[in-house]
Amino acid sequence: MKVGIIGLGYVGLPLVIQFAKSGAQVLGIDLDEKKVNALNKGQSYINHISSEDVQNQIDNGRLEATTDSSRVNELDAVLICVPTPLKENREPDLSYVLITGQSIAPHLPEGIVVSLESTTYPGTTEDELRPILEEGSGFKAGINFHLVYSPEREDPGNPASQVAKIPKVIGGFTPECLEKAKDVYSIAIETLVPVSSCRIAEAAKLTENIFRCVNIALVNELKMIYQKMDIDVWEVIEAAKTKPFGFMPFYPGPGLGGHCIPIDPFYLSWKARQEGTEARFIELAGEVNTSMPDYVIGRLGEALKRQGKTVEGSKVLIVGLAYKPDVEDDRESPSYVLMEKLEGLGAEVAYYDLHVPIILPSREYSHFAGMKSVLWNKEGISAYDAAIISTAHSAVDHDQLGDWVPIIVDTRHAISISSPHHEGVIGA
Ligand SMILES: NC(=O)c1ccc[n+]([C@@H]2O[C@H](COP(=O)([O-])OP(=O)(O)OC[C@H]3O[C@@H](n4cnc5c(N)ncnc54)[C@H](O)[C@@H]3O)[C@@H](O)[C@H]2O)c1
Repeated sequence: MKVGIIGLGYVGLPLVIQFAKSGAQVLGIDLDEKKVNALNKGQSYINHISSEDVQNQIDNGRLEATTDSSRVNELDAVLICVPTPLKENREPDLSYVLITGQSIAPHLPEGIVVSLESTTYPGTTEDELRPILEEGSGFKAGINFHLVYSPEREDPGNPASQVAKIPKVIGGFTPECLEKAKDVYSIAIETLVPVSSCRIAEAAKLTENIFRCVNIALVNELKMIYQKMDIDVWEVIEAAKTKPFGFMPFYPGPGLGGHCIPIDPFYLSWKARQEGTEARFIELAGEVNTSMPDYVIGRLGEALKRQGKTVEGSKVLIVGLAYKPDVEDDRESPSYVLMEKLEGLGAEVAYYDLHVPIILPSREYSHFAGMKSVLWNKEGISAYDAAIISTAHSAVDHDQLGDWVPIIVDTRHAISISSPHHEGVIGA
């Protein structure tokens, strides 16, 4: 079987490797020539995917990458893993999905399975992508080609997370579409979870991420309440999670980050508005989560004040720029929000992140592009008035900071209580 994967990013590349390892012939398709060239040379560009894994699949002839989307005409199945961001007004931006649909439609071979994997609101596959594919190909979904939605569940940075072992939800446009898609995915994925429609599968993905977003907002709010009562929220969660049923731990932080949790819930709240209803939990969770950087800066301000200083004029180091531990992905990272707000208040800001040695240009934070991570040593870091631990990578010994800076605002519970320098640590 020959499987194509369009969009060779954080979702597409692990799928490419898994399908090739499972014996499929894989064609990776991306507009980005750099990614395509790297793969064809056996190189990975994502930290947690090894170049050895890529090289092995190139060597055994099962993997090839291209920028030419007309080559879908060679395929039995094509999986679409392109971005689904928000527009500036926080409305869904489906342009990548729709442009991909337009580019492949004229080249679809009869009988191909087309699976959308990008996270999106219910109705996208059938109401937005299907007409484009049908119009451009002259085919009918469910008759000349098979259309499904199958969301991705990636956990970047978690070594225990393996694509083959994560159950995969699939909904088909017709029962036959679903059956054909099961034939494709069963090559690479151990457990398939068939559902009755594309809409159910789309809603299942959003439900998973909204659940996370709302629960993170809840613990963030509890943290602020407990802090007023001088109760350590981390110890509370450790105790609560010993309940063997009916509780699942979520952890507070400086705000939401990444390409999923801060974005996906707004796909549903937008759709809810289109349907004349409201997503109140999502909006409230958004409000709480986006207020967290201000709370963290407030805690920093209190600590500086105790030393006769103000945020204005202080040198502040952000520790951890990636949005979560042990990845290099800095998209939507709350660390940037902290940096921007601190600069706005007149602080001098720098960052440390072993996974992000330099800030690459981005749409939102273009003015930080080119800034480099400071080095992790006493000489450099003791020049700062305070450090904010925003993301705690496991390879970093955060306790060392206690020796180096007088104030540490620890949003991740990264400094151990037993650290000899625990007095300067402020939970936030
Ligand atoms: N990153 C995650 O952990 C994660 C987890 C689950 C679901 N998702 C969802 O998966 C989708 C992809 O996310 P990602 O993180 O892999 O994005 P990404 O930005 O890492 O990768 C997307 C890739 O698509 C390519 N691309 C864009 N338009 C294209 C086109 N027309 N033709 C060919 N290639 C094109 C880009 O060049 C890029 O390489 C999104 O909908 C996201 O919400 C992401």
